[in-house]
Amino acid sequence: MFTANDFIPSQYSQTIESGQFQWSAPSNIALVKYWGKKANQIPANPSVSFTLNNCKTITKLAFEKKNISTPLDVTNKFSFDLFFEGKPKEDFKPKIQKFFERIEIYLPFLKEYHFTIDTENTFPHSSGIASSASGMAALAMNLMSLEKALNPAMSDEYFYQKASLLARLGSGSACRSVKGEVVAWGNQANIKGSSDEYGIEFPYSIHENFKNYQDTILLVDKGEKQVSSTVGHDLMHNHPFAERRFAQAHENLDKLIAIFEKGNLDEFIKIVESEALTLHAMMMTSMPYYILMKPNTLQIINTIWKFRNETQIPVCFTLDAGANVHVLYPNKNKESVLQFIKDELVDFCQNGQYLCDEIGNGAMQL
Ligand code: DP6
Repeated sequence: MFTANDFIPSQYSQTIESGQFQWSAPSNIALVKYWGKKANQIPANPSVSFTLNNCKTITKLAFEKKNISTPLDVTNKFSFDLFFEGKPKEDFKPKIQKFFERIEIYLPFLKEYHFTIDTENTFPHSSGIASSASGMAALAMNLMSLEKALNPAMSDEYFYQKASLLARLGSGSACRSVKGEVVAWGNQANIKGSSDEYGIEFPYSIHENFKNYQDTILLVDKGEKQVSSTVGHDLMHNHPFAERRFAQAHENLDKLIAIFEKGNLDEFIKIVESEALTLHAMMMTSMPYYILMKPNTLQIINTIWKFRNETQIPVCFTLDAGANVHVLYPNKNKESVLQFIKDELVDFCQNGQYLCDEIGNGAMQL
């Protein structure tokens, strides 16, 4: 197991002038939610997520060493161009600048290169799906490919754990988008190898009930969020229920260990839905308070509960920090749940839009 200090390199065996890499990284959906953080993107509580398969960011990173004639003021700066779907995207640049500042200690070569970052998502633009997890993970993977070119002796374990640490410094949940179908992030006494610094592949057995688990994302509201996650995390400082909430996340994660092993879907549903509502309860009880759910979010939740009661099909929901609903269900119930979604839930989606996804494996080099 690595600590953050192990990821500060001293010297590289190779030099490399120019080249390019390309990686895809998926989004993920948290079952136990990360909500609240300390300095340096250290989570206030541990979380666990399913990695998605279809909702991805694809990022190409081209790099070229600055030459000796480069003026000093350029040598001392991070230098990069950023394209989103082929067009220059100035408004993403401050986030990347901040990311580079945070990770420079781990990748001391960053200022030696000029980078061209070309990025696109497989999910529709402005679908209300956060692309920060997949986007930061895809960029972190590319940067690790460059570091591996400078230090070919690097082990796979180092490569992926450092990639997750770097991704975390871009966006907390991004550290869960690197490797594995089920990923835990944050110190948890009962999860061997768990760390606040990076996500790890869930190290215990997962029952086959969860194989190819489905996630259909209902797009309820595609508008810009009124309150960003970063602000939301911040409001957990001095939150009246924070300590109890952080303790509850640990308890729920412990319970999930046995649930994953035994495949107990009734218990799984209780934890997952309670986590989603607790996340939103934290928003409603912070100061200032706010609500990200929309009337149709509640309509969908109630309709899922009714369908589950009537059919006994183990379908449940979870929520991100927004109005969209993730509908989670076993692969074997796919046909009947998709029919239910088309018959009863699509009307609550903006322009009838939804995305079909399922558990996936993590980032891939292209
Ligand atoms: C509600 O990872 O987006 O989706 O670290 O500030 O970038 P930053 O926040 P972010 O927060 C995600 C919160 C969540 C829950 C989760 O994914 O665990």
